[in-house]
Amino acid sequence: MKRIKEGIYEVGALNPAMRVFDIVMTTDYGTSYNSYLVKGQEKTALIDVCHRSFFEPYLQNIREVCDPKSINYIVLNHNEPDHTGALAELLAELGDVTIYTSQAGSIYIKNITNRQDLSIHVVKDGETLDLGGKTLKFISAPFLHWPDSIFTYLPEDKVVFTCDFLGAHYAEPYTFDYNMAYPEKYEKALHNYYDAIFGPFQKYVQAGLQKLDALDFDMVLPSHGPVLTTDTMLETAIARYRGWSAPVQREEKLAVVFYTSAYGNTKRLAVEVMHGIRESGKKVEVRFCDIIEHPMEEMRQLLNECDAFAIGTPTINRDAVPPVWELLAGMDAVNSPKRPCAVFGSFGWSGEGCPNVAARLQSLKCALVEEPLRATFVPTQEDLEKAKALGAALGAAL
Ligand SMILES: Cc1cc2nc3c(=O)[nH]c(=O)nc-3n(C[C@H](O)[C@H](O)[C@H](O)COP(=O)(O)O)c2cc1C
Ligand SMILES: [Fe+2]
Ligand SMILES: [Fe+2]
Repeated sequence: MKRIKEGIYEVGALNPAMRVFDIVMTTDYGTSYNSYLVKGQEKTALIDVCHRSFFEPYLQNIREVCDPKSINYIVLNHNEPDHTGALAELLAELGDVTIYTSQAGSIYIKNITNRQDLSIHVVKDGETLDLGGKTLKFISAPFLHWPDSIFTYLPEDKVVFTCDFLGAHYAEPYTFDYNMAYPEKYEKALHNYYDAIFGPFQKYVQAGLQKLDALDFDMVLPSHGPVLTTDTMLETAIARYRGWSAPVQREEKLAVVFYTSAYGNTKRLAVEVMHGIRESGKKVEVRFCDIIEHPMEEMRQLLNECDAFAIGTPTINRDAVPPVWELLAGMDAVNSPKRPCAVFGSFGWSGEGCPNVAARLQSLKCALVEEPLRATFVPTQEDLEKAKALGAALGAAL
């Protein structure tokens, strides 16, 4: 337990040993599941809960501040189980509490706890809750990073509870940013967290920052990582978010031909696709990448940044090859709809690689400019011409 300001306490749990989060994210510095108790003159609120595995120490931390039965409200800024997993067990220790959350959150939390009997109050944007000398103001912040996300502002104490927003997987034992022993590592963690969690939600991040701009505060209380204070990391973290969410300004559109090829057959097609894009008459920068020759993270970033792309894969073992799937697994599903794309590749006899990739792109709602182009073993002159035409069609779609 740590006192943050008069009547505000951090009661969450540290998980310094964590190295993987949400299956796909590596976390070199562990994390924390921060949860805050706010004691007004009349009422007490708990803001965000905790991961289920840490319920016992979490309850202990709450007990150090107050009798759990004296908690009147639980605010769920976001309902992902790292912040709500301990809720069901916690409720058994509490008296009558009302949960304050967004409309979307109210649905998720019923399905996360599998309880229909929860007392839930759905908050509207700008609504307030008076605890007695402390007012909680709820601010809608959708897609930061789930549809359910809200911020909670406490004007009397000039603090904002932002849950994942401005958070980092960084277990800071001394709670405050000014105590951090390794600020550079924290900045790395902040960046990794932004990329993994908020990267796809650029516009929502900008909207969230605008909402924060309208508030007067000197502390951000996130639910992962250190508390951010004025003149230490608060301004830095906000400035970083502004920079990372700023739209990339390009002089020209960017098209990328991704491919990989065991015997050079898919590569021959890839070369023609590239020429086709170049000759489409559009002002476009074209990049040509053998996926396995570059770090996968770089390839994924390029895929998410480009304006159009083509993917070339041979068929091996009745499918596209693993590096192609690895690339597609990193595709930002939020911003994929309507992006022009094309699929091509060589095969021997059954040829599932191209249609499988095309099906995946269709499920992401990308705009395939043509049916996939397949060539049997070594592409003929006609196949090469078709590949060039495919590139031209992709260029024309820009
Ligand atoms: C290990 C291996 C497995 C293969 N499996 C299939 C297959 O299941 N279906 C198919 O149509 N072709 C299959 N092929 C044939 C390749 O798709 C074909 O050789 C193609 O031309 C390779 O293109 P690339 O030179 O671009 O790698 C296989 C080839 C290899 C080497
Ligand atoms: Fe989350
Ligand atoms: Fe989280």
